Amino acid sequence: FISNVSHEIQSPLTSIRGFARALRREDLSRETREHYLDIIEAESARLSGLSDSLLKLSVLESGSFPLEAKPYRLDKQLRNILLACEPQWMGKGIEVEAELAEVTVTGAEDLLSQVWNNLLHNSIKFTPPGGKVMITARLIGTEAEVVVSDTGAGISKEDLPRIFERFYKADKARSAGAGGSGLGLSLVKKIVDLHLGEVRAESRLGEGTEIIVTLPLSVKEERERE
Ligand SMILES: Nc1ncnc2c1ncn2[C@@H]1O[C@H](COP(=O)(O)OP(=O)(O)O)[C@@H](O)[C@H]1O
Ligand SMILES: [Mg+2]
Repeated sequence: FISNVSHEIQSPLTSIRGFARALRREDLSRETREHYLDIIEAESARLSGLSDSLLKLSVLESGSFPLEAKPYRLDKQLRNILLACEPQWMGKGIEVEAELAEVTVTGAEDLLSQVWNNLLHNSIKFTPPGGKVMITARLIGTEAEVVVSDTGAGISKEDLPRIFERFYKADKARSAGAGGSGLGLSLVKKIVDLHLGEVRAESRLGEGTEIIVTLPLSVKEERERE
């Protein structure tokens, strides 16, 4: 784990240092200069996202974290998140469809919002323009089920069992360009676990991906039963 962290920190820093040094040259065209600056900006953003994710993971894993679960309307939360990332999917020319039944869950609203955000961002990131992302929420017995699916790149059979591992990125080249750290889904899993829920993925390379999250409607009751 530590050597992964170190690698994830060192590689953007190496790239930032290299491009900053290259910018000292005076014979660079305006485009080249802009290109180097873009890389520096993107790598800095990646580092910042990494430190944010690491902090969240370590707080959640320390176990000292009290889960402040309250009942709230899951469908409203999902609708707000969809609206908030509208610029991203609109900007990329992706169609989003939502089918949200009225569901009230008991959970930590801010933590669960990170779950939906991470899933949605993945779908947008790994779906090419013209593709489609679909989000559904429904009630199944005593559980709420949220499915985020897309018509994007998909995940190979070999990679699929590993995507919830920390730092795991299925397609190294593609992910490096997309600027993730491979921590998003491990955070998702951690938060869903804290809610005594389950998360699983179904995918076919080149066809699309479906992430299914189920949450018990009331975390407290489940805890007392254990
Ligand atoms: N919707 C998706 N479509 C295709 N691949 C995905 C999707 N979601 C996750 N993945 C794969 O799982 C890996 C891990 O996801 P995640 O933990 O969110 O890391 P990151 O987004 O930082 O790369 C991604 O790098 C990608 O290879
Ligand atoms: Mg991600």
